[in-house]
This record gives sequence, C-alpha cells and structure tokens, in this order.
Amino acid sequence: MTVSGVETLRWRDGRLELIDQRALPGRVEFVACADAGEVARAIREMVVRGAPAIGCAAAYGVALEAARLRQAPMVDFATGVGQAFDTLAASRPTAVNLFWALARMRAVLDSVTSAGPESVAAALLEEAHAILREDVAANRVMGSHGAKLLADGARVLTHCNAGALATAGHGTALGVIRSAVAAGKRLTVIADETRPFLQGARLTAWELAQDGIPVTLITDGMSGHLMSRGEIDAVIVGADRIAANGDVANKIGTYMVAVLARRHRIPFYVAAPLSTIDPQLASGDAIPIEERAASEVRGYAGLDWAPAGVAVRNPAFDVTPAELVTALITEKGVVREPDRAKIAALFR
Ligand code: MRU
Repeated sequence: MTVSGVETLRWRDGRLELIDQRALPGRVEFVACADAGEVARAIREMVVRGAPAIGCAAAYGVALEAARLRQAPMVDFATGVGQAFDTLAASRPTAVNLFWALARMRAVLDSVTSAGPESVAAALLEEAHAILREDVAANRVMGSHGAKLLADGARVLTHCNAGALATAGHGTALGVIRSAVAAGKRLTVIADETRPFLQGARLTAWELAQDGIPVTLITDGMSGHLMSRGEIDAVIVGADRIAANGDVANKIGTYMVAVLARRHRIPFYVAAPLSTIDPQLASGDAIPIEERAASEVRGYAGLDWAPAGVAVRNPAFDVTPAELVTALITEKGVVREPDRAKIAALFR
C-alpha cells in the first residue's frame, strides 16, 4: 500500500514484504515473510513496529500460514492455523492492535469452518487485506478530524514514530500532521529521538523528510527546555493501548512529555484508531508493559557505551493518565478530555 510514499507492508507474490525498519534511514530494504513464524519474528525483532502495523502484519501471518497449509487435511490445517495464532500472540505484549487483528482473523476462521482449507485460506487473506485497507482509511479520517486542532504555523512536538511506518499508511499522529499540511497549514515538527530504539531520530525524521515536511530533531531531554521557552505549541503522539478510562500506553517517555505539556499549558493530543482501544481493561495499570533487552540501553548497533554488566531497566512503554490528555483523535471524531463514558460512547 503506497500512501505518503512509504510502503510499510506489501503483499507480493503470495508473501508479506515488510520494510526493514531496523535498517532505516540508512537503507530501504524489504524482508519477505512466508509463514506465521517469520512474521512473528519480524514483529519481535522490530522489522515491523508501531501498533497498527503490528496488527496488520499479524493478520497476514495467519493468512500466510493458512495458505501454506491449504492442501493439508482439515485437521492438520486447523492445528497449524491454531498454532499460528499462539505464535503471533506471543510476539509482543503491549500493542492491543495485535490481539484485535487476531480476534478479527479468528472470527473469520470460526465463521467458515464448514468450508475446506482452500476457501478458509482465501477468506483469511481477504480479511487481512481488509484490515490493511481499513487502517489506511481510518488514518485518513483521523487526519482530517485532527488537522483542525493544529493552527497554521504551529510547532508540533511528536514522540516515537506514529507515522506511515507505524501503520498501513498515512499514520496516526503523523497522519494528522500530514492532513494539516495537505490542508495548507505550515507546520514545523519537533521530533524527539526516542531512546533507546531511536524511532524519532531514525524513522520520524526520515519519513517527514521524504514528504518535505519541516522537521527538527532534538534529544529526549530537550523538550522541557523548548516548552519553557515557548517553542512548542502542541504535542501529538500515537498509542499502543488505551484503557477503558482513557489512560494511554505509548512509547517510553510519552508520560514525561505529557507532564511537561500540562506544566506549560500546551495541548497534548493522542491520535489512535478504535483498534487501539482496549475496552476490557479498566485502567492503564492493567496494561502489560513490554521489557526489552538490556543491550538496547547499554548501546546501539553493536557499540556499547555503558560499563559492561551495569544493571539496566528497559520498559518499552509507559502509561499517561487520561487526565493529562487534552483530546483523543479517532476515526469517530475528537474526544476532548477523554474519560470512561466518552470512550464507551465511541463503541455505540
Ligand atoms: O516499540 P514500537 O516502535 O512498536 O512502539 C511504537 C509506539 O509506541 C507508537 O507510538 C505507537 O505504536 C503508535 S503507532 C501509530
């Protein structure tokens, strides 16, 4: 799918091709996946990342496994596809889009069980394509709702990468920025680098540069200073999981930015599709937070700058309480000061 020039996921010759986000911005390369195990590995190793993109990839993972087994007897087909769900579900824990997409695939599987493997595999592939198409459409609608919140000339801080690379196309937070720019607003984006995996420095800066949207890179520790000097007008981020009360899990460091934004009376916006909302979870306390390898904090790309053996913590996400969120931007509209009742209303 080419939207904004970036092909995060594409279906080619019966395989899923993923832009290798570990290699960006240095090299634009694709990794091809032929079965669910390869897709799960690509998710775990961050070839593909970002909540909606992970969901789309997982859906294709199920479809690939079904296609691979489509000539097997029904019992083997059902066992293999069942295992694919488990393998994909174990790849990363925080982004709820992964589990949301697997639930959609499961519903299709359950609805066509009387058909033979060949037709089930075809139905699963069609559902994966639909999930991808719907994600792009949701991002475009979200973009047009959110664009109205950004004033002409605004300097907008974003954290991590919530762009085309994190979705099937257009992006959530960056989708809002793209739509605002398309509507004629002159925006400047301040991208923080987003330690330790550098999604801001490597991915957001690259993606915006591809589109010719002005972007200035800062380190994570600089946002408070810029806010205190009146150099940031709005903050917009994506989300990995939003609880029923509006608490938002997003890339580690988001909470810090939200606290700073409140201190400086700067609006803090979260752009996310309904597939990122987990109505089953009462609050952010229940959101599982992924802990990643210590090596990511000790250094980067094979270079270690911390003393060998130093104790390390590496939670990959944090939770921003709903009270710090000025508005949630969804494909169903803008929810100001999100709370339990307003979130529930989105699903009616
Ligand atoms: O660890 P990552 O890179 O998968 O984390 C991604 C984020 O935290 C994004 O901000 C979030 O998934 C929203 S993407 C539209």
